[in-house]
Amino acid sequence: MDTEIVSVDNHVGNSLSYQRAVDILKNGGVVAFPTETVYGLGAVATDSNAVQKIFEAKGRPSDNPLIVHIGNKEDVDKYALDVPENAKKLMEAYWPGPLTLVFNKRPGVIAENATPGFETVGIRMPDHPVALTLLRKLDLPLAAPSANRSGKPSPTEANHVFTDLLGRIPLIVDGGRTGVGVESTVLDMTTVPPTILRPGGLTREMIEELIGPVHAESKVSKEDAPKAPGMKYMHYAPESPLFIIESDEKVIREAVRKLNDEEKRVAVIGPDEFKIDEADWYFPVGPLRDQEALAANLYGAIRQCDMTEADIILAAETEWTGVGAAVMNRLLKAADGKRFTI
Ligand code: TXA
Ligand code: MG
Repeated sequence: MDTEIVSVDNHVGNSLSYQRAVDILKNGGVVAFPTETVYGLGAVATDSNAVQKIFEAKGRPSDNPLIVHIGNKEDVDKYALDVPENAKKLMEAYWPGPLTLVFNKRPGVIAENATPGFETVGIRMPDHPVALTLLRKLDLPLAAPSANRSGKPSPTEANHVFTDLLGRIPLIVDGGRTGVGVESTVLDMTTVPPTILRPGGLTREMIEELIGPVHAESKVSKEDAPKAPGMKYMHYAPESPLFIIESDEKVIREAVRKLNDEEKRVAVIGPDEFKIDEADWYFPVGPLRDQEALAANLYGAIRQCDMTEADIILAAETEWTGVGAAVMNRLLKAADGKRFTI
C-alpha cells in the first residue's frame, strides 16, 4: 500500500485537503490525522471492519479499547448513557480539549471491537482545527488511538507517523507539530468520585478546581491490576535502556562521566540550560521547569535518542504537578521504573 501525505498546515479551511480523507474513511479505511495532543489513527467508530484495520496497522493488542472522537459536544448522548452533571461541567469548560471522559456505553452504536468487552466508552472532542474540520465534514465518530506502531512513542509530527506506518495506511493528514505533546487525560466518570485512569494534557488541578477531588491511580502501580487497560501494555521501550535522573546539571554530568568510564555512550534528555559536554548526545526539551515545553518535546526527543548509537539514555525528571504528572507517568513507563543515582 502506498502511504500518501496531504499537508493542510497552511490551509486548514480548504475543503479539498479533506476530501480524500473523508472518502477513505467513509469507505471503511483508516487515516492518520493531527489532534492537539498527538497524531491519531482514525476509523469510523461504528464500522467494525474499519476499526479492525486500526489494530492491524498498529499491531495493537485487540483487547485495548479505543477512544471515540467527536466533532460536537452534543454527540456524546448518541454513544453514552447516564452522563453525570459533573461530566457536563467538564465538557462545558474543557471540550474541545485533551480530556477523555469514560461513560457507560449506549448499547449497539459503537462497533463492539472498538471497546472490546467493555460496558463503557471513552469519548473526547479534540481541540485541533484539522481534527474538528475532519470530524465535522465526516459527520461520524472516529475511533482513534495514537498513530504509532505499538511499542513506539506517540507521534507528535506527521513524519513520526510516516516512519511507523509507511505502507500500512493509505493517508496521513499533516497539520504540523501537535501542541500538547502527551495524550489526553482519561477520566472515568462511572466511579464516585471520578478516577483519573491516565494523567494527560488536562491537569488534575484543573479538573479538581471544577468538580472537586478525584481519585487517581498511584504513581507507580505496577503491581496493581490495571484499570485503564492500556496501562498493562508496554507503552514504548526505547531501544536503549532509559533511566530517570534528578534534574541537576552537576548530578547529570557526574552520571555521564561515570558511564563514559564504563565505555558507555550516553544520550541525555534535559532542559535547554544544562551544558553536559560529556554526553555523546544532548536533546534539549525546553527551558528549565517549563513543563508544557517538556511535554511538547518529550516524545520527539525519545525518538531522536532511538536514532543514536547510545547505550543508555538519561532523562531529567520534573515535578508531579500540572502536566508534569503526565510527563513523569510516561517517563516511568519508558524507564520501566528505573532511576539513575550516582
Ligand atoms: O490524546 C489522546 O488520547 C490520543 C489522541 C489520538 O486522541 N489517543 C490516545 O489513544 O492516546 P490510545 O488508544 O493510544 O490510548 C487510549 C487510552 C488507553 O490507555 C485505553 O486503555 C484507555 O484510553 N481507554 C479507552 N477506552 C477506555 C474505556 N472505555 N475504559 C477505560 N480506559 C479506556
Ligand atoms: Mg497510544
